[in-house]
Amino acid sequence: MKVLYVEDETNDADLVKRELAKKAPYIDIKIVESLSEARRHLLENEHYDLVLADLHLPDGTGLDLLREIRTRGIPVAVVILTGHGDEETVVSVIKAGADDYLPKRLGFTEFLPQTLEDAFKRFDIDRALRARPLRVLYAEHDTTDIDLTRRHIKSSARHIELDIATSGKEALQKLPNSPEAPCPWDVVLLDYRLPGENAFDVLKTIRLERKLDLPVVLVTGQGDEEIAAQALRLGAADYIVKNSNYLHRLPALVESAYNSARAEREKVALQQSEKRYKELFEGMLLSLGKLTEIRDPYTSGHQQRVAELAVRIARRMGLESDRIEGIHAAGILHDIGKLTIPAEILTKPAKLNELEYSLVKVHPQTGYDILKGIEFPWPLPEMVLQHHERLDGSGYPQGLSGEDIMLEARILAVADVVEAMSSFRPYRAALGIDEALAEIRKGAGTLYDERVVAACIEVIKDGFDLDATET
Ligand SMILES: [Fe+2]
Repeated sequence: MKVLYVEDETNDADLVKRELAKKAPYIDIKIVESLSEARRHLLENEHYDLVLADLHLPDGTGLDLLREIRTRGIPVAVVILTGHGDEETVVSVIKAGADDYLPKRLGFTEFLPQTLEDAFKRFDIDRALRARPLRVLYAEHDTTDIDLTRRHIKSSARHIELDIATSGKEALQKLPNSPEAPCPWDVVLLDYRLPGENAFDVLKTIRLERKLDLPVVLVTGQGDEEIAAQALRLGAADYIVKNSNYLHRLPALVESAYNSARAEREKVALQQSEKRYKELFEGMLLSLGKLTEIRDPYTSGHQQRVAELAVRIARRMGLESDRIEGIHAAGILHDIGKLTIPAEILTKPAKLNELEYSLVKVHPQTGYDILKGIEFPWPLPEMVLQHHERLDGSGYPQGLSGEDIMLEARILAVADVVEAMSSFRPYRAALGIDEALAEIRKGAGTLYDERVVAACIEVIKDGFDLDATET
């Protein structure tokens, strides 16, 4: 990989060169000290895969260089070295089309090889996606402006393909009627002063009526800042004021509007797929949980009630939400190992004999074996394995004690006992919540974790009703 590093601080330049030689000898690095030198190297048709640029350069900024690279359509990945914690800069750097950034703080060279590699890969994928030009619909009435814009784009931003609509009505005719219809444009440039249709009406039609998420950039005259602000409120991606050098800024602005819209779409798609995944996971979890209970109707809803109580206890103990999610999932599945226990034993209306009990005691291990092949984001199989362990080592299957039992399992154990005792079983009537609480109080510190017991008692005292849990 050939890298052009733009850096005026010799200490940093030396450090980067040394580190890359040591950790990523396959990276061929060329160091230049200024923007103008970088420009010369890039324009002399010397091919680079990536430009690494410091933000502060003697004759400009890394951001200027980045914009120039993107405007001219030079096919090179760009990583910007930013100052510490400057979020505003980071946003502008990404908006301007950087493939990544790296805050220049102590030890930043540690992450450099990976950052450069990832940025290059990202750029490559992006380039494949963007093999076609950026298609822009420009709604503009003024023929001089149309002509100037056309000429400027043709000479300095050839990756932009421009189509003109001379009125708002024509622009709307060229745009799709619904988000489902194919859209031939990537960005709409909308001049504020259009004949007939008001630019705001066009914008409103695009956003509210047709619900297109196409980025719209408003082009206004000088002194129309209030209009620009209103346009942003109506959903314009950005605006540009027609001043003396606006044509030079236009390509970068169009690129940035397109990149932001694409990033936003990707974010929404990611959120949707995460939501779908979560729903799917939740559904699978409940179905798996129900499977256990089909064979043992007397304990119907037991796992869900245990899960619910365990979640309340964990919340009361102040556990992180991700950990609580894991406890919930483990609660729903904690007795899944009972699938292999004969139904006669599970539903036997009398106390179990020793042999039968020994069969029951295998269920945490069976549960673990069933679940261990699934890559859960939590140590869920272990929680299931340990849910019958007791603090003093008297539990099963491993006879673990104290802190060797994971906290999640200690919580599940208490929730399990409280739920089981307060519910009906084939061999006995329900003992009730008071007796269940008396049992965990008695066993606090010996069988059950004291903090878990205290949290459980508080949860019940606060009015949590096991019977009200939806199953
Ligand atoms: Fe169990």
